[in-house]
Amino acid sequence: MTRVRYSSLHVSPVRTAPSGRPGAYHVPVLLPEVETLFVGAANILDCTLGGGGHAAALLDRGMRVTGVDRDPRALAAARERLADPERAGQFRALLGNYADLEGAGLAYSELFDGILLDLGVSSHQFDDLTRGFTFREGAPLDMRMGTDVDLGADELLNTIDEVDLSALLRAYADEPRAARLAREIVRRRDRRPFATADDLVDAIRAVLGPRSGAPEFARIFQAVRIAVNDELAGLERALPKLRDRLTSGGVLAIISYHSGEDRLVKNAFRDWSAACICPPKQMMCTCRGEPLGETLTKKPINATDAEIDVNSRARSARLRAWRRV
Ligand SMILES: C[S@@+](CC[C@H](N)C(=O)[O-])C[C@H]1O[C@@H](n2cnc3c(N)ncnc32)[C@H](O)[C@@H]1O
Repeated sequence: MTRVRYSSLHVSPVRTAPSGRPGAYHVPVLLPEVETLFVGAANILDCTLGGGGHAAALLDRGMRVTGVDRDPRALAAARERLADPERAGQFRALLGNYADLEGAGLAYSELFDGILLDLGVSSHQFDDLTRGFTFREGAPLDMRMGTDVDLGADELLNTIDEVDLSALLRAYADEPRAARLAREIVRRRDRRPFATADDLVDAIRAVLGPRSGAPEFARIFQAVRIAVNDELAGLERALPKLRDRLTSGGVLAIISYHSGEDRLVKNAFRDWSAACICPPKQMMCTCRGEPLGETLTKKPINATDAEIDVNSRARSARLRAWRRV
């Protein structure tokens, strides 16, 4: 069985998109909406560079782009695609986690007119069987986005405490039978450690019934992926740091695909837009008393039916934006 080891992420060649079409690596979601939010910006930080789809469009509009991704293979693919702007000094790519931009090599003092997060995984990461994100038959269980993640999905599922596993499935997958599923996973791994997607799919089927299918598998696999990559805690840590990297008038735009992500973004934007941030029970206001900025999207922007028709991934996308004053 193929198993992506931590170190192999550094050395394996970039698998080109099956069709070889530019953009086939990953079709960027809500692209015109993102371009509109960044009108007038000169200097963009794309925190989730992926295949460079959003970055390419923003470069075409004359903006300078710094791209960050925790996946070395995504970075290599984006560099290959954006080699011309890179040579012209308009584009640079940094390996790292957006929750630790300084660790990725970004100077503390560097500010941006626009910051983009397009969360989750790219189609390429998902489609590459060896990365272990998919529930396709025979696929390994891995799901690590980058070299900064230690435990793969198999190791997580084979070692996690049953109570923690149940909490994870409830919190990230909204799974009503989380406790039963956690117990089933522990029972099965005691007989034989989990190694492939089939092991998890079989456990899900045993608990959710033989008629459970792609939607249930996708939901549970996504929950495991979020835990493996510490995605929600990373986003929560990153949000205030990203806000503080905006120039005055700069826009933070975030596309999320999971209700937990969207909730974090919505609440952060609401808090930063409030005039008073004192605790509700406090009698007198002792805070700065001025909003840090304004939420540009009272409701999240969803993809149009036309976009969803050509890119089903856009179905669950929610775009929110906030401007610093
Ligand atoms: C949905 S894809 C982005 C696609 C990109 N917008 C495009 O148009 O090609 C998400 C990317 O973000 C990266 N990523 C996810 N979480 C990250 C994090 N905490 N730090 C850096 N990169 C991250 C993933 O490795 C993946 O390549």
